[in-house]
Amino acid sequence: MDTTKATLTPTRETASRRPRIHPLWLRITHWLNAFAALIMMFSGGRIYDASPVFPNIVIPPSITLGGWLGGALQWHFAAFWLLVFNGIVYVALNVASGRFFTKFFPLSPRGVLRDFLAALRGKLSHADPRQYNMVQKLAYLVVIIDLVVLVLSGLAIWKSVQFPLLRELMGGYDRARVVHFCAMAVLAAFVVLHVTMVALVPRSLLTMLSGR
Ligand code: HEM
Repeated sequence: MDTTKATLTPTRETASRRPRIHPLWLRITHWLNAFAALIMMFSGGRIYDASPVFPNIVIPPSITLGGWLGGALQWHFAAFWLLVFNGIVYVALNVASGRFFTKFFPLSPRGVLRDFLAALRGKLSHADPRQYNMVQKLAYLVVIIDLVVLVLSGLAIWKSVQFPLLRELMGGYDRARVVHFCAMAVLAAFVVLHVTMVALVPRSLLTMLSGR
C-alpha cells in the first residue's frame, strides 16, 4: 500500500477532524448580513443624492442601486427587514451560545494598540484562526453597534412621527439624518478595511465559507 499517498491525501474523515471555527448559523447570518448591508449602502447612496444632507458631498450615481429615488427606496426597505431580522438572529444566537463573550472578549486598549502596531509591521500572527486579534474584536464590535445605530437612525427618519422618542434621542429629524449618514460612512470604511484584510489573509475567507 502507498502509505505516503494515504497520509497526504485529505479524506472526508480527516477533513471532518479539522476544528470547526465558524458554526453554520454564523456563516449563514454573516453572508445574509453582508448582502443586506451592501444593498442598504448602495441604495442609500441613491436616496441620499435625491436630497443631500451635505450639499457638497454627492455619491457617484454609478455606485448606487435602484436607478431612481423610488427604486432605491424599494431596495432600501426590502433589505432593511432582512438586515433587522437576520441581525436579531445573529446577536441572539451569539449571546445564547456564549460565543459573543469568548470571541470578542477580553478586549483592552493596550491589546488593541499592541496588535495594531504589530499589524503595521506585518508581524501579526494568524496561526490560530479560531481567535480574533484585538483589532478585529474592536472592529467587529464597532460595526455591530454601528449597524444598530444605522437601523435606529433610519427608523427615526422613516417613521419620525410614530417614534418621537427615538427622533428626539437622535437630536431631531435633521440630526437623525446626519447620524444616519455618518453611521453609513463608518460602515463603508469598515467594509473597505474588512475586505482588504480578508484579501491579505485569504484562509480566513475559506473558514467563513466552509466553517473549518
Ligand atoms: C458588508 C458588510 C459586512 C459586515 C457588516 C461584516 C461583518 C463581519 C463581522 C461582524 C464578522 C465577525 C463575525 C463573528 O465572528 O461573529 C465578520 C467576519 C468575517 N467576514 Fe465579514 N462583514 C461584511 C462583509 C464581508 C465580505 C464582503 C467578506 C468577504 C470578502 C467578509 C468576510 C469575512 C470573513 C472571512 C470573516 C472571518 C474573519 C476571520 O475569521 O478572521 N465579510 N464580518
